[in-house]
Amino acid sequence: KAKQRETLLEINRQAAQYFYYQLRRESGQIGYRYLTDRGLSDETIRKFGLGYSDKFSDDLYKFLKGKGYGDDQLRDSGLFNVDERHGMYDKFWNRVIFPIMDVNNRVIGFGGRVMGDGKPKYLNSPETKIFDKSRNLYGLNVARTSRKPYLILCEGYMDVISMHQSGFTNAVASLGTSLTSGHASLLKRYTQEVLLLYDSDEAGVKAALRAIPILREAGINSRVVDLKPHKDPDEFIKTEGAEAFQQRLDQARDSFMFRVSVSEKEFPMEEPQGQNRFFERCARLLLELSDELERNLYIEAIVRQYHRYGISVEDLRKRVNTLA
Ligand code: CTP
Ligand code: MN
Ligand code: MN
Ligand code: MN
Ligand code: MN
Repeated sequence: KAKQRETLLEINRQAAQYFYYQLRRESGQIGYRYLTDRGLSDETIRKFGLGYSDKFSDDLYKFLKGKGYGDDQLRDSGLFNVDERHGMYDKFWNRVIFPIMDVNNRVIGFGGRVMGDGKPKYLNSPETKIFDKSRNLYGLNVARTSRKPYLILCEGYMDVISMHQSGFTNAVASLGTSLTSGHASLLKRYTQEVLLLYDSDEAGVKAALRAIPILREAGINSRVVDLKPHKDPDEFIKTEGAEAFQQRLDQARDSFMFRVSVSEKEFPMEEPQGQNRFFERCARLLLELSDELERNLYIEAIVRQYHRYGISVEDLRKRVNTLA
């Protein structure tokens, strides 16, 4: 059992080296250029061990067979597709490759991106005996050693890499899967606070709303960073630079107040009816806070922020108490 895990780790390491080497060859220039066109330096490419899988569909297979691995071992690695007619062939084909490392710097899987607008945009290794997606975070192997008082949680490979390149070496990503309690307890080993930097589209806002209670349950404080009008951290940094990015981090919003402000957008706030339903929602959110002092502080904060609707601390507290 342990032997099997060791073998899978070895196969992944060999594959990572193979992809890395392919990126440096003449035939890999298209991949290398894609990455540098997106603003990555050679140093960054090396640091993250980025690679390239070429246009042949059996070269990785042959390479690993040549290293002596058997078909069963290779199948378990998740690096190959298997079908009756073609047998086993490379899963990653004509893509730039992002090796995924665990916190001990061992390669446990891969992501591969098309160099352009093809679909699917990313292919990822499936879960295997060594790759549990709900217990690993991309970039944590580096971020764990950063001495910032918080970790940054974002969506994607390029977000993490861009941030690291610009000095924000405390960034990690959950890679398209929604945050799980497994991720949260992993994060809790390294930090007390997380800044959420999900994409600023609707999916990103929803993901942030789902992540907040999961983090809270693990005892992690969270804040939400607004990247608008940009779509994600990578694009923000590319257009606005690291200094403006740091300013946005400094302006991160309290996650409870973030939930309140998202709620506000759901109601027709120009009518008393909408206002009433909004404050009803606020009361429900406040009810989740079991600590009385904390609840009082948020009642005050909501009243301060929405005083234009003429609500008082007394009004809101009464509303909470009628629900309790
Ligand atoms: N993702 C995936 N499969 C897809 C799309 C996305 O696994 N078909 C994962 C990837 O880990 C990706 C993350 O979800 O990095 C975020 O997706 P998205 O925001 O769509 O992509 P970006 O990371 O912004 O990719 P890029 O900047 O390269 O376009
Ligand atoms: Mn290939
Ligand atoms: Mn996205
Ligand atoms: Mn994105
Ligand atoms: Mn992006």
